[in-house]
Amino acid sequence: MFGLGAVSTIVALCFAVVVNTMPSSDATIGSVGLAAQAFPPIPDFSAASWIWTSTNGLTGVPPGASAFRLTVPVDTAFNTFGPSANISVAISADDAYNLYLNGKLFGSRRDFLQSNIWTINNVPTTQPWVFAILATNYAGALNSPTANPAGIIASFVASSSSTQKAEFWSTGPAPNPQWKGANLAPNHFYSTTMDDSDWPAAVVLTPFGDAPWGRPVPVPASLCV
Ligand SMILES: *[C@@H]1O[C@H](CO)[C@@H](O)[C@H](O)[C@H]1NC(C)=O
Repeated sequence: MFGLGAVSTIVALCFAVVVNTMPSSDATIGSVGLAAQAFPPIPDFSAASWIWTSTNGLTGVPPGASAFRLTVPVDTAFNTFGPSANISVAISADDAYNLYLNGKLFGSRRDFLQSNIWTINNVPTTQPWVFAILATNYAGALNSPTANPAGIIASFVASSSSTQKAEFWSTGPAPNPQWKGANLAPNHFYSTTMDDSDWPAAVVLTPFGDAPWGRPVPVPASLCV
C-alpha cells in the first residue's frame, strides 16, 4: 500500500474551479507568462498526455506500483517567480496516485475517473522542486484480472503574485519537461536527495481524451486538505 508522508504539515488552499481558463500554449517552464489569463491560471488536462514507464501502459501491465519523478531546477524557478511560488497540480492516475513535492505528500486518490487540483502555497525557489508520483495499477476487470492499462496525467501551474508571472506545463511530449519513471518504486523514491540519474525517461502514451481512457475524467475538482 502507500507510504504516506506527513500530510498535516502541508498547508493547501481550496481553488475555485473555473472551466475553460486553460491556455493552449506556453508549455515551457521559464517562457513568457500568461498575462491575459485570470491570475493565477488554473491547471487542467487540455494540453496533457497520459504517461507510464512503458508503452505497455496502453494495453496492460500487471498490478503494482511505479514511481515517477520530475526535478525543476532552481535557476528556472527563481528567475521567473522570485523567492517563492504557488503551485497547483491537476492530476489523475489509473488507478491511484500519491503526489509528493520536495519529499512531502500533498495529494492522494484512488479513482481514475476522478481528478483533483492540489495547491501548495509559497514554495521556496531556493531549492529545486522535486515532484514525485507513486502510481498504483490494481487488478483489472473480470475479463482482465491480471493486466490492464495504467497511466498518470497531470498539469501544473506555478505562479507568483509578486511578479505576476505564471507558467504551465503538463505530463506529455516536449516542450513539456521530461519525467522519469521506475517500474519498482525504490525506497524514498520521493526524496529530494534520491539519485534518479539512471532512471529511464517516462513514456508518453496518448493525449487526454484518447483511448483507452477517453474522456470520463472530468474537469479537475478542487480538494482541500
Ligand atoms: C499564494 O497564494 C496566497 C493566497 O492567494 C497569496 O496570499 C500569496 O501571495 C501567494 N504566493 C505567491 C508566491 O504568489
